[in-house]
Amino acid sequence: MGKSFRQSVLLFTVTAFLFSFFPVSISIPFILFHGIGDKCSGGVNNFTQRLSNLSGSPGFCLEIGNGEADSWLMPLRQQASVACEKVKQMKELSQGYNIVAQSQGNLVARGLIEFCDNAPPVINYVSLGGPHAGIAVVPKCASGPICVIAEALMKLEIYNDFIQDHIAPSGYVKIPGEISKYLEHSKYLPKLNNERPDERNSTFKDRFTNLHNLVLVMFQNDTTLIPKETAWFGYYTDEGFDTLLSTQQTKLYKEDWIGLKALDVAGKVKFVSFSGDHLIVAYEEVVKYIVPYLMQTSLSIL
Ligand SMILES: *[C@@H]1O[C@H](CO)[C@@H](O)[C@H](O)[C@H]1NC(C)=O
Ligand SMILES: *[C@@H]1O[C@H](CO)[C@@H](O)[C@H](O)[C@H]1NC(C)=O
Ligand SMILES: *[C@@H]1O[C@H](CO)[C@@H](O)[C@H](O)[C@H]1NC(C)=O
Ligand SMILES: *[C@@H]1O[C@H](CO)[C@@H](O)[C@H](O)[C@H]1NC(C)=O
Repeated sequence: MGKSFRQSVLLFTVTAFLFSFFPVSISIPFILFHGIGDKCSGGVNNFTQRLSNLSGSPGFCLEIGNGEADSWLMPLRQQASVACEKVKQMKELSQGYNIVAQSQGNLVARGLIEFCDNAPPVINYVSLGGPHAGIAVVPKCASGPICVIAEALMKLEIYNDFIQDHIAPSGYVKIPGEISKYLEHSKYLPKLNNERPDERNSTFKDRFTNLHNLVLVMFQNDTTLIPKETAWFGYYTDEGFDTLLSTQQTKLYKEDWIGLKALDVAGKVKFVSFSGDHLIVAYEEVVKYIVPYLMQTSLSIL
């Protein structure tokens, strides 16, 4: 007993000595948020596992509610708040973590980053086809009764309290030419993007600006997001569909409502373009643009 105790003490001392002089390489875990009409079980878990295999970092697909139906029917503010509580309960994430998000999952991810109080830090954030600046057309229903109803309701009236409280994507439909209605009645995106002049919250901006890397992936052949440039925070002018503003031409960027410009000026934003349709990623693109941001990072722990 005496011997093994001494060995332990020796081991501890040596380890502590090494750690105090050299930065320690640790794997930062990542979480993944899927898009609308999707769920972790199945393909998305596979993708998470693949990213984990390639990066050597533990990865978790974070499910919000029951997955498929709740991704349509739970308002995004609530989805972000569920994500916030889940992240705070995961011990694996307590020292900080990275995020990968697909499509609508990006608005949950950003809600988590901006709104979640007393949360562990987000280091890198890789956004795949996120409707960051809104979508100008109600999303196409792929299949299933929920989205048929949701689509019909949204086409009826998007800026209505009932729709806003019950259909998740209504929270980021932003129709050019109807911006005053959007600013007045939309319950999610105007807050997330600090769009309302009298309600801007610098805490949201500070939190977003704390990211180490922001990777914004746009899909060249995206037929789901209209316009596809929303994945880079580009969008139409408030007046209509005629003119598309690049990221740097938008007021969100120029007046830096959420810190996107600050991050960009600091060289922390990567604007990346993938060749396929919405969320179609090629192996080489994954290896080159996603995996490096999930790999081990040197951090000194003492
Ligand atoms: C998940 O990956 C396994 C092997 O890696 C494969 O057999 C399976 O078909 C995949 N499942 C889905 C839903 O993609
Ligand atoms: C990840 O690696 C494990 C262990 O090598 C393997 O069994 C699994 O099929 C891999 N999964 C994917 C999706 O690549
Ligand atoms: C801004 O957001 C933070 C974090 O949620 C909150 O504590 C604070 O009260 C908000 N400030 C204002 C002025 O609303
Ligand atoms: C993108 O769309 C164009 C036109 O439909 C097509 O020719 C091209 O093959 C597509 N590229 C990819 C990578 O899907």
